[in-house]
Amino acid sequence: MKAIQFKKFGSPEVLEYIELPTPAIANDELLIQVEAAGINPVDMKIRSGISAMAKKLALPSGLGFDLVGKVVKIGKDINEYKVGDSVVGKIEYEKPGAYAEYCVVKSKDIIIKPHELGVATAAALPIVGLTAWQVLHQYGNLQRGERVLIHAAAGGVGHLAVQIAKKMGAEVFATATQKNHQFLSDLGADHCIDYSQAPFEQVIHDIDLVVDLVGGETGLRSFKVLKKNGRMVTVPSPTRDEIIQQAQPLGIKVSGMLAAMNQNDFTQLLKMISAGDLKIQIAKTFPLKDAVLAHQMLETNRTQGKIVLVM
Ligand SMILES: NC(=O)c1ccc[n+]([C@@H]2O[C@H](COP(=O)([O-])OP(=O)(O)OC[C@H]3O[C@@H](n4cnc5c(N)ncnc54)[C@H](OP(=O)(O)O)[C@@H]3O)[C@@H](O)[C@H]2O)c1
Repeated sequence: MKAIQFKKFGSPEVLEYIELPTPAIANDELLIQVEAAGINPVDMKIRSGISAMAKKLALPSGLGFDLVGKVVKIGKDINEYKVGDSVVGKIEYEKPGAYAEYCVVKSKDIIIKPHELGVATAAALPIVGLTAWQVLHQYGNLQRGERVLIHAAAGGVGHLAVQIAKKMGAEVFATATQKNHQFLSDLGADHCIDYSQAPFEQVIHDIDLVVDLVGGETGLRSFKVLKKNGRMVTVPSPTRDEIIQQAQPLGIKVSGMLAAMNQNDFTQLLKMISAGDLKIQIAKTFPLKDAVLAHQMLETNRTQGKIVLVM
C-alpha cells in the first residue's frame, strides 16, 4: 500500500510518500481501506516533535488519526461490522497511521458512516468535532444564556464550537481576523472580534467560559475577560500546564482537555451534520501523495475549517 511515513522529526518535508506492506490485524481489530483522512494540528506537532505524544513514538512512524473508509478485514472477536461497511472514526493516539491506503482500527474507535455524508466531510469531523463537543459539554459545562468566548473560532475546532455553543443557547464571542467575520456570523457568532487590530481583552468582558484554542499568551491574557467565578478550558497541550499554573494563585478556574473517542458524543455530532444542524467547512483537499503540501498549508495557521487528504 501507499502511505505517509517520517523517519525523523522536522518540517513538513520529512513526510515521505512510500510503499509499505498492508498491515495485519489482531483478533480484536479491523482493517480499513482508507478513503479520506482528516489533518489536525496535533499531526503537525507530532511530526515536528513538539508534542508529548511524539516522545513516546518509535520512528519511522505513520501519521494521522481521523479516517473514513471501508471495512475490508475483520478480526475473529468482532461481530458488529461486516466487510464493505463504510465507517468513520479516530484511531488511538498511541498509533498514528491514518495517512495511508489501509489502516488498522479497534471497533470502539469507529462508527458506521451515515450514507449521506461525503467522505471528506466525515473524515474532517472526528478530532475537531469531539473536541468542540467535549470542551463545551463535558469540560466547560456551558449553560443556556452564558457568555462564551471562542478563540481561533474560524479554525477546525472553533467553527464547530461556535455552532454547538449557539445550539446550547449561549451568547457567542468569536476571535478571528476580519476576513473570517462573515463566515462566523453566518455560523451564528453573535460578536466577532478581530484580535489582530486591538487586544481582545480591551473589548471583551464578563465572560462565563473561555474556550482557548490558541494557548500561550492568548490563554494568559484571557484571564482578564472572565467574570468572577468564570472558567476557562485551554485546549492546546504544549502550553496547558503553564497556563493552569499561572491561573492557580489568582483563583481562576482553568482546566485542560484531551479529546477522546466517545461513540455517544460522536453519534450526536453525526446526527447534527446529517440533519444540516452542523456545517463543516473544508478549506482544501489534497491527494495522499501531497501530504507535504497539506502540512505546509496547515502551518500557515490561517486555515478556515479543515484540510483533508483524499486517497
Ligand atoms: N487537547 C486536545 O484534545 C485538542 C484537540 C483538538 C485541537 N487541539 C489544539 O487546539 C488548537 C486549535 O485546533 P484547530 O484544529 O481548530 O486549529 P486550526 O484549524 O489550525 O486553527 C486555524 C485558525 O486559527 C486562527 N488563529 C490563529 N491564531 C489566532 C489567534 N491568535 N487568535 C484567534 N484566532 C487565531 C486562524 O484564524 P485567523 O486566520 O482569522 O487568524 C485560523 O482560522 C490547536 O493547537 C490544536 O492542536 C487540541
